[in-house]
Amino acid sequence: MQNTMLTAEAIIENARKRASEEDAKTFTDKEELSRQEAFLSLAKEQTGKLSELLGRTPTYCVVNFGCQMNAKDAEKLSGVLKEAGYEETDREDADFVIYNTCTVRDNADQHFFGRLGRAAHYRKKNPWMKIAVCGCMMQEKACVDKIKESYPYVNLVFGTHNLFRFPEYLADVYENQNDDFDPRGRKLYVVWKDTKEIVEDLPSERKYPYKSGVNIMFGCDNFCTYCIVPYVRGRERSRKPTEILREVEHLVSDGVVEIMLLGQNVNSYGKDLETPVSFAELLGAVAEVPGVKRVRWMTPHPKDMGEDVIHVIASHPNIARHIHLPLQSGSTEILRRMNRRYTKEQYLDLALKIREELPDCAITTDIIAGFPGETKADVVETLDVIEKVHFDNAYTFIYSKRTGTPAAAMEQVPQAQVKEGFDRILSAIQESARERTALLQGKVLCALAEEENAQEEGYLTCRLSNNTLVHVKGDPSMIGHFYDVRLDTCRGFYYFGTVLSENANGY
Ligand code: 5AD
Ligand code: SF4
Repeated sequence: MQNTMLTAEAIIENARKRASEEDAKTFTDKEELSRQEAFLSLAKEQTGKLSELLGRTPTYCVVNFGCQMNAKDAEKLSGVLKEAGYEETDREDADFVIYNTCTVRDNADQHFFGRLGRAAHYRKKNPWMKIAVCGCMMQEKACVDKIKESYPYVNLVFGTHNLFRFPEYLADVYENQNDDFDPRGRKLYVVWKDTKEIVEDLPSERKYPYKSGVNIMFGCDNFCTYCIVPYVRGRERSRKPTEILREVEHLVSDGVVEIMLLGQNVNSYGKDLETPVSFAELLGAVAEVPGVKRVRWMTPHPKDMGEDVIHVIASHPNIARHIHLPLQSGSTEILRRMNRRYTKEQYLDLALKIREELPDCAITTDIIAGFPGETKADVVETLDVIEKVHFDNAYTFIYSKRTGTPAAAMEQVPQAQVKEGFDRILSAIQESARERTALLQGKVLCALAEEENAQEEGYLTCRLSNNTLVHVKGDPSMIGHFYDVRLDTCRGFYYFGTVLSENANGY
């Protein structure tokens, strides 16, 4: 087990020691940053000209699909567009519309192409409109070819690896071949490569003023046999702890109270750094940054999750009492076929250790129903894990065949059997979630007021440390602050409650 006692100062000190070697290594990143800043200035000039032509400020719309990593990427796209002089809108007939795609499941693909088809109609109404597509799907050649063939009105395509080049592409889209500025000029600019570069400090526009995701690493090396992520997000690469802590400090000084550390497989964090730093050390260091009132993180892999993470949570009350621990299947045989590299028993040991050492911590999970070869007996194994762990909640997915992954070549389960297994798993999860939520009845717990409740006027939606939602009477000025809330009425998976007092600590 790793030593978890490294403080933020110690981590920074370690990093300083190796600063001279690292300077040489980061040179390219800094050079790339200045290139992109130069393109951003060019994009600003172009937006100025476009503004004159339109007689108004041009608008942009980011349409985001998928996971937390994509939500974070969407903030980066938004930051660049705002910096270039655009104004945000949620209308899909904006002057610059960008679709940030997801390809984890098949229905995400279908949903996206439907939306992209409708964009043709908006373009007819707004001839100045530019359409860009990026994200995980665009790392797949077949998807890019489909766009080239069937969606000729798309101006720009790029993948996740090239996101940091967005200022360059943005400027390029508006560049006419003759050097005369013509904002209607079209250019399909397809480019992607597997890059190891991590370019820091490009602008980012936060969706929420009081909470923010922070990437700690990119990519995944696990190659679970059903999953497309390693192919579209590339190999694992960690950001330096100094950069992460600098970003966290900056966010805090800008009013952020909750940090969500993001990575596809956070337990592998830091293994690729010159001086390896464990995820537990980083988590502790982030929690110790003054002003950080709540830290969330996702996603761990059960095979790599050490007790050091559990201990660091136990010793930091501001680390959320919530662990999202993807199970995928409760059957050891299916886990083997999924290349998950843990058994049912190993998962149970880990989950039950969390229950023992962090009794107030919610455990949520991901489960896939209908993975190739899954039998009714395998589903019973999954139901057994649900009963033993007593999950607080779960995302339950129907297995979706992803071309290019090993599982796509395995014999598929008949649809009717998939559906039956899915329904049994879903109802077991719902029952478990209801029971766990009901245990909080009458308690007074600290909650962060997050947003106005869309359904109930005069109510705010707040989030407990364990991720449960509670709706309280309140006004928008309370958003971004923590309150001690009494949980009065359980409504299945959430509560209605009463604010008792403000809570300055966040726990
Ligand atoms: N089919 C169904 N679900 C999948 N996931 C990933 N790939 C697939 C797939 N091909 C689920 C896993 C993962 C979550 C983010 O998405 O449960 O944990
Ligand atoms: Fe996909 Fe497995 Fe990596 Fe998660 S750990 S992103 S499921 S390959």
